[in-house]
Amino acid sequence: MRDGYGRRIEYLRISVTDKCNLRCLYCMPHDIRSLPMKEILTYEEIAAIAETAASLGITRIKITGGEPLVRRDVCRLIGMLKKIPGIKQVTLTTNGVLLKEHLEGLMAVGIDGINISIDTADPKRYERITGSDTLGAVLEGLTEALRYHIPVRVNAVSLDPAFFAETEAEHDPLKEAAALIELARERPIDVRFIELMPIGAGKSFPGIPHDVLIPLLLKRFPALARDEKKHGNGPAVYYRMPGYQGSIGFISAVHGMFCDSCNRIRLTAQGYLKSCLCYDTGIDLKEILRSSLPEPEKNRALAAGMEKAILCKPKAHSFAKQENISEKHAMSAIGG
Ligand code: 5AD
Ligand code: SF4
Repeated sequence: MRDGYGRRIEYLRISVTDKCNLRCLYCMPHDIRSLPMKEILTYEEIAAIAETAASLGITRIKITGGEPLVRRDVCRLIGMLKKIPGIKQVTLTTNGVLLKEHLEGLMAVGIDGINISIDTADPKRYERITGSDTLGAVLEGLTEALRYHIPVRVNAVSLDPAFFAETEAEHDPLKEAAALIELARERPIDVRFIELMPIGAGKSFPGIPHDVLIPLLLKRFPALARDEKKHGNGPAVYYRMPGYQGSIGFISAVHGMFCDSCNRIRLTAQGYLKSCLCYDTGIDLKEILRSSLPEPEKNRALAAGMEKAILCKPKAHSFAKQENISEKHAMSAIGG
């Protein structure tokens, strides 16, 4: 369906858990408490919401977290979602730590694509960011995923290396970005840089704005050429590097201001349907699902609630004005 500004809403991101096996500094504070299991939607509840969403025109779903692969038997949910009429694509965003062991199961239920979060190609710095010495396992998962010939992407949040640097040489943001771009040389993947958004712990974390990073990269790699081919469902802008198998993308959520073409809504692990990342506006679908309404009425209430949330989707984010950001949750509870 279309929202109040005529945007076609066809993409639903579903966070299946607020738990994560990593502790990325800009996402999950170390002292964060995870939600009690009874607060989290069951797979049946998620599937009921997805069915209603499909009836309203949602065709693509992204499974996210926290880290979705830490929730038990997440492949069962993916299988359920894949069977819903109207849902054409179910993809996954993961930190990749547990990917290798889950790949067979994911392929068996028909996963359509996998995004792996890798913010740095340097093992030491990876450990500083995530609190975990697991870059090797993640890269193994990446290599393994490529054997299945499904679209694989790397997502790297553009962090300011000055924050982690121990020496002057480590301040160079281009060094970091160049190492990530190298991942696309011998692999047919999109490596995408994501602008750090001021949500949760990301508010007080230094990122590199893309109006700084992109010109620097284009100067350093003059051979980078715009790629107009459509790569995915979102607002990334792509470039190709001659001789590289993969592409380089930029998701400039803060400076790119691509809200005009926004096509998405988000379901949190607690069952709150969010219409924009920046604000807490939306609707508590769990309350409807767990109400005592009889089944047909419940389904109608679910559809009406979702419709209303979509119609009230804000026109644009307001990341430039901290006081306007009404979203108070950690990113791990929203799913990015
Ligand atoms: N800004 C941008 N991306 C973020 N992520 C987590 N927090 C933020 C933030 N504040 C990313 C993760 C992961 C994806 C699900 O969201 O790094 O790639
Ligand atoms: Fe976990 Fe992803 Fe948050 Fe890192 S960014 S702590 S991997 S949910």
